[in-house]
Amino acid sequence: MSLFIKKPMHLLLEEAGESGKGLKRTLSAGALVALGIGAIIGAGLFVRTAAAAAQNAGPSVTIGFIIAAIGCALAGLCYAELSSSIPISGSAYTYTYATMGELMAWVIGWDLVLEYAVGAATVGIAWSEYLNKLLVEVLHVSPIPYEWCHSPFQTHAEGTVSGIMNVPALFIVVLLSLLLIKGTSESAFVNGIIVITKVAIVILIIILGWGFINAQNHVPYIPEATTYVDHAGVSHSYGGIMGILGAAGTVFFAFIGFDAVSTAAQETKNPKTAMPIGILGSLAVCTVLYILFAHVLTGMAPVDFFRTKGGEASVVAAIIDYMPGYGWLAKLVTVAILAGFSSVILVMLLGQSRVFYSMSKDGLLPKMFSELHPKYQTPYKANLFILVLVGLFAGFIPGDIVGDMTSIGTLFAFMLVCIAVIILRKTDPDLPRQFKTPWVPFVPILGVLVCGAMIFGLGWTNWLRLFGWLALGFIIYFGYSKRNSYLNNPNRPR
Ligand code: ALA
Repeated sequence: MSLFIKKPMHLLLEEAGESGKGLKRTLSAGALVALGIGAIIGAGLFVRTAAAAAQNAGPSVTIGFIIAAIGCALAGLCYAELSSSIPISGSAYTYTYATMGELMAWVIGWDLVLEYAVGAATVGIAWSEYLNKLLVEVLHVSPIPYEWCHSPFQTHAEGTVSGIMNVPALFIVVLLSLLLIKGTSESAFVNGIIVITKVAIVILIIILGWGFINAQNHVPYIPEATTYVDHAGVSHSYGGIMGILGAAGTVFFAFIGFDAVSTAAQETKNPKTAMPIGILGSLAVCTVLYILFAHVLTGMAPVDFFRTKGGEASVVAAIIDYMPGYGWLAKLVTVAILAGFSSVILVMLLGQSRVFYSMSKDGLLPKMFSELHPKYQTPYKANLFILVLVGLFAGFIPGDIVGDMTSIGTLFAFMLVCIAVIILRKTDPDLPRQFKTPWVPFVPILGVLVCGAMIFGLGWTNWLRLFGWLALGFIIYFGYSKRNSYLNNPNRPR
């Protein structure tokens, strides 16, 4: 038995079968950029930006976006090499199993739960915030009572009422999970419409909101370093370099999903040039949009607004209070955001079920995670388990906590991916690589440092959460997975 047993390439290829070998090379660099943008823009921009401004960096949240983008670009280039060196379509989990062995594969697979499952919960909670705006601003009915759209760990800013369960967040997760079980996959057409709508909304807010920037709100641009204690009593490093790093860690969430581009290496025409254009291109477009958007948002309303009244559904809240005469924009944005968030949640739930499916096929998770529905041919038991897991996070944990957990988990996975590239160049120099990360080991090392700095900025409560999560993962690995892995136990009946 070995912790570092590697999954042989021939096995991967056999399992991938035709779907692995037969992928057509149809995607151009432009299509990759669109794919990236579709997966990226979501709750990170429309909810976490205001949270990062309020809790960490004020207007300098824009600098946080730049740091997060640099970290993503560096890790993305490494991700692309890893995904293109193994000729099947898959996730970081699969690549790691083939190249760095079982224990590291487990760590990445376990860590991806933070990216996908906890990430889906975060977007579900953001969906719930904007649903209330839909009820009040568009449908002109009463909002959902505070206690039924917040977790038990949240108390109203006026301290009068506490949350019980976030019902709308739970609802959207259940609904989309059931859709996934039925095998409804978004068509390219619907995805295209959602991408165009998302980008159009962001550009519209930038252009129309620009005229409502109050220069006073941008002074000082980088607030003096201090501590901000929110109304729940949690303290945050505010201002200065720590504030910017903390904001970078939080808004990093807004870039999650761009790794979808690197997993499409097998379907890309001319991946050598298309991959870097796809990854860096979608990152560049989003970064420019994000910076301008954050500049407008923090210019429109003061930081205090995002700490109080504008703490939820911040973008629409700011439009209503600070852009008089633009009620129609608030309505349009609300509807578009609800649709846009739904597609992000769907992609994340799907990603999670694929990871669990692969881990179960390898024996690292129980067999039920790879059992297919007799009619719909989807891993329905995995989907149901994920529904419960994500539902618990969405219904009972505050958005700030799950958002930062998603960020720290994904940042950690990105660091491992960067390290993997350096190791692989040494251990497997002849592995065919359709795409090679430039300037190895400089780019991966810088990637580790920038992602590490953001992890540092997220603060000790988040380090503890990551540590706890990994510890739980090790308990499961040594208690179950190692003893049941098919590679480590070749005689175990399948
Ligand atoms: N980047 C995605 C979002 O912001 C996960 O919702």
